[in-house]
Amino acid sequence: MQNFNFVNPTRIIFGKGTISRLGPEAAKAGKKALLVYGGGSIKQNGVYNELTASLKKSGVAWVEHAGVKPNPVLSHTREGIAKARENACDLIVAAGGGSVIDEAKAIAAGARYDGDVWDFFSGKAGIKDALPLFTALTLPATGSEMNAGCVVTNAELAQKYSAHAAPLFPRVSVLDPETTMSLPPAQVANGAVDAIAHLIESYFTTADRDVEVTDELVHALARSVITSTGRILKDPKDYGARASMMWSATLALNGLAGCGYGGTSFPNHAIEHSLSALYDIAHGAGLAIVMPAWFKVHLEKAGPERLEKFGAAVFGVKGAPAAIEAFEKFFKAAGAPVRLAEAGIPAADIPRIAENAMGLIALWGMKLKKTEVEQILKKAI
Ligand code: NZQ
Ligand code: ZN
Repeated sequence: MQNFNFVNPTRIIFGKGTISRLGPEAAKAGKKALLVYGGGSIKQNGVYNELTASLKKSGVAWVEHAGVKPNPVLSHTREGIAKARENACDLIVAAGGGSVIDEAKAIAAGARYDGDVWDFFSGKAGIKDALPLFTALTLPATGSEMNAGCVVTNAELAQKYSAHAAPLFPRVSVLDPETTMSLPPAQVANGAVDAIAHLIESYFTTADRDVEVTDELVHALARSVITSTGRILKDPKDYGARASMMWSATLALNGLAGCGYGGTSFPNHAIEHSLSALYDIAHGAGLAIVMPAWFKVHLEKAGPERLEKFGAAVFGVKGAPAAIEAFEKFFKAAGAPVRLAEAGIPAADIPRIAENAMGLIALWGMKLKKTEVEQILKKAI
């Protein structure tokens, strides 16, 4: 096991009927919130009413910043920063999925920075400070509710880049599994694939293959995501499955599931962000296309050991090829695309996708070459 530091300052309030707990928490940090949300799902499922009633009761006024797009964009983020400044907001409240929380994080940091917020994503500047952030999560997937990362797309440059810094950890995140019951099946699938992706990146790129505790944590979380997904797709009102899925997805990317691995990287994510940047496809859908292809190249280059271990522990299958098949079978059963063509992406675009991915690969300090990215993508045809 490699040396590691682990800290996670986000307070989680988990369970039925907990949205109303966010107002009193927010009131500890300020009096005027920028309320960030997406295209309206929170108005349909009751989260908006519950949350705003709680803010009101707690004496927190708010200014709304609605319309965050899935794969949030820089232009809308800049508008949010201007709004937070003009209205002297002293905190941010975000309600929705990873896109809403990510844009809220970028606004929180941008509002406390004199330059342009894209500097944090392009690597020009580091985040030193941010407005306090409170979140109500409605889509289990990204872990953004309990981590210090955010992803924003610069549509003009076709760059989907990320920023990471301790001030971005939400102060408090409320996770009410009942709010996820309104998710369409496709978003359930996207979320499940993303959570699996967060578990496998470090597991398969670890510098140290003798970290039994983290391996077993990863196996358990992956089994929980897979079992919960099956139950949710069968019965969307299955509270136990919704709750397990929500907490599993959070734990998959809050830092715990990588402790001790050392020197890990996120190759599937780097390639997927290029697909989302160029074709605006959902993050989970892009990952379901990239992962089976990446596993095939991983098997050739790194050998069967990790695939065999994961396959036996999670899917109950023997051998590396059977493990890759089991991943693909799960993604398909959940309803995610597993080949470029299924997402309408032509194979002829592979060089362009690989070229785009090289930006993030360089920023994340990964060793992957363009030819290797092309080699992976060719296995996704
Ligand atoms: O916009 P609204 O109306 O809220 O609808 C959303 C959106 O259309 C809808 N939705 C969310 N909760 C719902 C709901 N619909 C019905 N009922 C609910 N309870 O779902 C759609 C997708 O939402 P989005 O937030 O885009 O999905 P997700 O949570 O998967 O977030 C994806 C974004 O997060 C980034 C991805 O790259 C992508 O941009 N990621 C962030 C990470 C992080 N911060 O740590 C790590 C990840 O690897 C990922 O890169
Ligand atoms: Zn992800």
